[in-house]
Amino acid sequence: MDTITLNNGITMPALGYGVFQTPPDATATAVAEALRVGYRHIDTAAAYFNEAGVGAAIAASDLPRDDLFIETKVWVSDYGYDETLHAFDKASAKLGLDTLDLLILHQPAPSRWERTLAAYRALETLYEDGKVRAIGVSNFMTDHLARLLDVAQVVPAVNQIEVHPYFQQGAVQEADTAAGIVNQAWSPIGGITFYRGEGRSTLADPTIGEIAAAHGRTAAQVMLRWHLQEGRQVIPKSVTPSRIAENFDVFGFTLAPEELAAIDALDTGVRGGPEPDAIRDELFDRPIPEA
Ligand SMILES: NC(=O)c1ccc[n+]([C@@H]2O[C@H](COP(=O)([O-])OP(=O)(O)OC[C@H]3O[C@@H](n4cnc5c(N)ncnc54)[C@H](OP(=O)(O)O)[C@@H]3O)[C@@H](O)[C@H]2O)c1
Repeated sequence: MDTITLNNGITMPALGYGVFQTPPDATATAVAEALRVGYRHIDTAAAYFNEAGVGAAIAASDLPRDDLFIETKVWVSDYGYDETLHAFDKASAKLGLDTLDLLILHQPAPSRWERTLAAYRALETLYEDGKVRAIGVSNFMTDHLARLLDVAQVVPAVNQIEVHPYFQQGAVQEADTAAGIVNQAWSPIGGITFYRGEGRSTLADPTIGEIAAAHGRTAAQVMLRWHLQEGRQVIPKSVTPSRIAENFDVFGFTLAPEELAAIDALDTGVRGGPEPDAIRDELFDRPIPEA
């Protein structure tokens, strides 16, 4: 497994496994299958309401703790210094882990910016106390990053953002890289382009299809390879055993520079997920249950 070294020197697998939209009662089985196949990094979130399922799979596995890299996210309703410290306690209890490998803020909350900063300060405290091995952010755009970096004591190790062939966020990726922050791609195979049935699908893209055919690979494998060769960390999600295996089998081929460039050229600039500056109070206020 290829690894990526974060800005504090710790390493994480370049390829992980995501569980957004994995139903809570199906999560333990799906994560157990991913661990069996060989994934060692799991990406969950308080707001996915399935951390306990991830924890159950970890508890049932006989893998040494040090072989696993567990990442979760603090939801906006838990932003604020004390609230975020407590969010760690909730997550750690649900996951059954004393320490987490990576804890990130799920998104900026521009209408609650002071609380967003206070939440980040709590991550810094958890990091200094050794409760988390690395901290980071998600869905931070260049202005959010700049405002955070102005006051942060610890530079985020990752920024988890929407990146797939149809939405590449070049400016955010460049800002991350310039600050020493790893770009972690969510919806890496473009799930957000097709699972809502909105009419476009990276999986059906003819350019990606041609490249896949030339390598005897699938469109999903080509997209994952594209990210890895461009230095991004990836977290494809699947609950389907054959796809869990397919998405893991991406280290036996290499895309040529012109193939990477052809995929780069597919960027439409059209975001699939929510606009990070949108105010979504109903969602932001959604409470995260105690463990
Ligand atoms: N920070 C954020 O705001 C944020 C937002 C979204 C996602 N994420 C993270 O990123 C992870 C991945 O993103 P995502 O779940 O949005 O999208 P994704 O991983 O790009 O795509 C997932 C979708 O693709 C299907 N799929 C998986 N492998 C496939 C394959 N080889 N061939 C065909 N279809 C395949 C899955 O179906 P089945 O499961 O039915 O097989 C699912 O519908 C999430 O699980 C989560 O951890 C974070």
